Amino acid sequence: MKSILITGANGGLGKECARQLALQAGTERIYLACRNEERAKAAKLALEESTGKSVFEIVLMDVSNLNSVRSAVESLDEPVAALVMNAGGMGGKNFGDKTVDGVLQLFAVNVLGHVVLAEELLKAKKLTKMALYAGSEAARGVPKMGMKRPELKTSSVNEFESICDGSFFGKKIDPMVAYGPVKYMAALWMSSIARKYPDIRFVTMSPGGTSGTGVMNDLPPFMKFMFTHVGLRLMPMFGLMHKLEEGAKRYVDGLNDESYKSGVFYGSKKSVLTGPTIDQGTIFDDLNNKTFQDNANEAIHRFIK
Ligand SMILES: NC(=O)c1ccc[n+]([C@@H]2O[C@H](COP(=O)([O-])OP(=O)(O)OC[C@H]3O[C@@H](n4cnc5c(N)ncnc54)[C@H](OP(=O)(O)O)[C@@H]3O)[C@@H](O)[C@H]2O)c1
Repeated sequence: MKSILITGANGGLGKECARQLALQAGTERIYLACRNEERAKAAKLALEESTGKSVFEIVLMDVSNLNSVRSAVESLDEPVAALVMNAGGMGGKNFGDKTVDGVLQLFAVNVLGHVVLAEELLKAKKLTKMALYAGSEAARGVPKMGMKRPELKTSSVNEFESICDGSFFGKKIDPMVAYGPVKYMAALWMSSIARKYPDIRFVTMSPGGTSGTGVMNDLPPFMKFMFTHVGLRLMPMFGLMHKLEEGAKRYVDGLNDESYKSGVFYGSKKSVLTGPTIDQGTIFDDLNNKTFQDNANEAIHRFIK
């Protein structure tokens, strides 16, 4: 890929993906789309030092702020071949707050901003080959991690809307519970948009359980303690955790290897979070339901003015 734009590229998987792509022949430009200028500059410098390449360019973008996303798209002076929608995670300390657009911060960061980003790029003819979304096996449930498969009653547009605004989760929102349904909706949206743009490849790819990132930093203290002091030691033994390089390599494979099909969500096999990737629709059939895909897409668009 000649040029790639990666959101959340100043740390974790986004930065490692940028590093791996920079070392590939043919990569001319990598846009590091980040919300914080200082952190972006530090990442750019570190990436230049570690790769010996000067292909990195900073684009300031807060994916939870739609105006910021739109301005960033306008600021691009030429199209990108690929988009990596990686920013996200647990939504920060204010994951349960509503944004000005009426969605949970957790939803804004993981989904809404990326929907606007991809669609604005396509509208402006600034995306030419493919879009990759950072999915999560939480979207089909991870029983070993206590993460239940999303259980929807009707999968109607209204029910999906309630995931976006958080009412689906009741009064007290647990980010570990909300994360799966949010990532599930993103995968459904990717399958829906893939049918609308047959010339662009849309791949949802979970990096798998990946250590060395900040994804758990904003969890409540006890959960964070358990995760960092107990989980990180045990998880690799149960096939639930691999290294940062391996997680980011899944993105790179998804970008380079055209056998990853458009509209499909790839992630780990049923009871693990590492190893080879498979179509997650073989584990959770609802992911294949075109009506659910389009209902999720319609619900998301209720929040985009
Ligand atoms: N690690 C895993 O095990 C795992 C598993 C499955 C899926 N994932 C997914 O992989 C993606 C990357 O996660 P990670 O593990 O690399 O986490 P991470 O180390 O916390 O990185 C997240 C990145 O997203 C950025 N970001 C957060 N909110 C943003 C916003 N509003 N606008 C722009 N950038 C924003 C962060 O920037 P700041 O430095 O400014 O906060 C950071 O660069 C996430 O979508 C996550 O859900 C991770």
